[in-house]
Amino acid sequence: MTDLISHAHVTRGDYFCVESQLSPCGLVIFGASGDLTQRKLIPALLSIYQRGQLSEGFFILGCGRSQLTDQAFRATLASALKEEDKPRPMIDLFLKRCYYISGSYDDLELYKKLSHKLKELEGKYPTHGRKVFYLSTPPSLFPVIVERLGAEDMTSEDREKDRWVRVIVEKPFGHDLKSAVDLDNQLYKVLNENQLYRIDHYLGKETVQNILMFRFANAVFEPIWNRRYVDHVQITVAETLGVEHRAGYFEQAGQLRDMFQNHMMQMLALVAMEPPSSFDADRVRDEKLKLLRSIRPFALDDLERYIVRGQYGPGYFNDIPVKGYLEEEGVAKGSKVETYVGAKVLLDNWRWQGVPFYLRAGKRLPRRISEIAITFKSVPHSLFGNALSEQLPANVLVLNIQPEEGVSLTFQAKQPGPKVNMVPLTLDFHYRDVYSHGLPEAYERLLMDCIAGDQTLFIRHDEVTVAWGLLTPVLEAWATKKKGPYIYKSGTWGPLEADQLLERDKRKWRLLEGAILPR
Ligand code: BG6
Repeated sequence: MTDLISHAHVTRGDYFCVESQLSPCGLVIFGASGDLTQRKLIPALLSIYQRGQLSEGFFILGCGRSQLTDQAFRATLASALKEEDKPRPMIDLFLKRCYYISGSYDDLELYKKLSHKLKELEGKYPTHGRKVFYLSTPPSLFPVIVERLGAEDMTSEDREKDRWVRVIVEKPFGHDLKSAVDLDNQLYKVLNENQLYRIDHYLGKETVQNILMFRFANAVFEPIWNRRYVDHVQITVAETLGVEHRAGYFEQAGQLRDMFQNHMMQMLALVAMEPPSSFDADRVRDEKLKLLRSIRPFALDDLERYIVRGQYGPGYFNDIPVKGYLEEEGVAKGSKVETYVGAKVLLDNWRWQGVPFYLRAGKRLPRRISEIAITFKSVPHSLFGNALSEQLPANVLVLNIQPEEGVSLTFQAKQPGPKVNMVPLTLDFHYRDVYSHGLPEAYERLLMDCIAGDQTLFIRHDEVTVAWGLLTPVLEAWATKKKGPYIYKSGTWGPLEADQLLERDKRKWRLLEGAILPR
């Protein structure tokens, strides 16, 4: 393919903006001394604060097992914010709104202390009793935390006074179908579905949100978005990182639970669902649910034809040797946990019958990239028989989710010159060319939506159970197999067996730039 690139012209007009200042509320973070709080939540809240969208009546109360004073908590947050390109005085004003209490999550005393502290802070900041509880702890603690919040009467709402209480639940939401249903039942003892915000940070990514705008706010794509024109779709989430310091969690999860049950299924749903009747939380989630329900169950007697697991072995990145998964700290000897999953997914519905969706997500792959590529069918007949040695390549539309956020479309054109020669060109749009300040972090959007009471980008209970219903039999089948995942070299595109998912259909995974070809 040539490097000729023609940039799309982008018109920046006024756009409809629903957010102004957010309603006053207190945010309680369970797991406040953890990684997520420092790396994602606090920087996201600071950005919202900097834009003036947090109300005067807003405070953050961190809650964790580590013993910290308010001052020490603020100091930890400040050191995590060091890298942030924000004015110091503004950071200091923000940090003044941050408080901390410590205790053990199953100890009733903690909840008494919390209730007392909330009353004190609600006296200082006019939040009108509105609260968000963010559960960023190990999932086994979700039920006990919610149960005790309920017991101390911290979860009741008063509609007339617009006093609401919302709970954000981090993933993983259960570890299989049964545990997810059990978890729902435990949470429902205290909360109703309208109070529950199950987070999938992929849904907060601008480019993932854009899938719906791209499809349903433009007239030209939707008519060809179906089995008549689409040959197949590939969804890739490739990471260069390995398991890092998360082996404790990852050994219990594995790639299917960690990436497929949530992020991959959600992207698949957005790219393939029918148009909802409105951009309302339940209308959108109804359509996603319908799509998830149309996924054909994996054939358990012929699993390898549809889903393949891999685990990274030792390898090289830029000539530097890296460890295999089994050598990582905290990984059990002989662990069979998968770090790569490739799958061929078929949808049994009117629009997509016979169009395969190939999904892959893996760690320690050659390049960090998330994208959705829609390959259209080739032209039925080439007039230009002599212009090319091979068949005309098909048009490919790529929604680049990260890190080079954008949209591109390949098409064929005449190569200038006396001969009739054809070249594939690319129409390429990069967000960074238009939005030079960069895109907001996923957590900003999601935190704002929760405070605004908008559940559109949060997962409903039935989406969770349908996704688990599809993947639990695969997990069970894998658990009974003697043979573990296929080993692939770190720095390569996963096991060869995953290539066969497509080769059997006479297709190939997209060769993404940066690929290290020799395996
Ligand atoms: C998380 C997974 O949900 O997503 C991680 O638990 C993974 O294992 C991460 O690394 C990837 O997210 P992103 O935003 O970096 O693509």
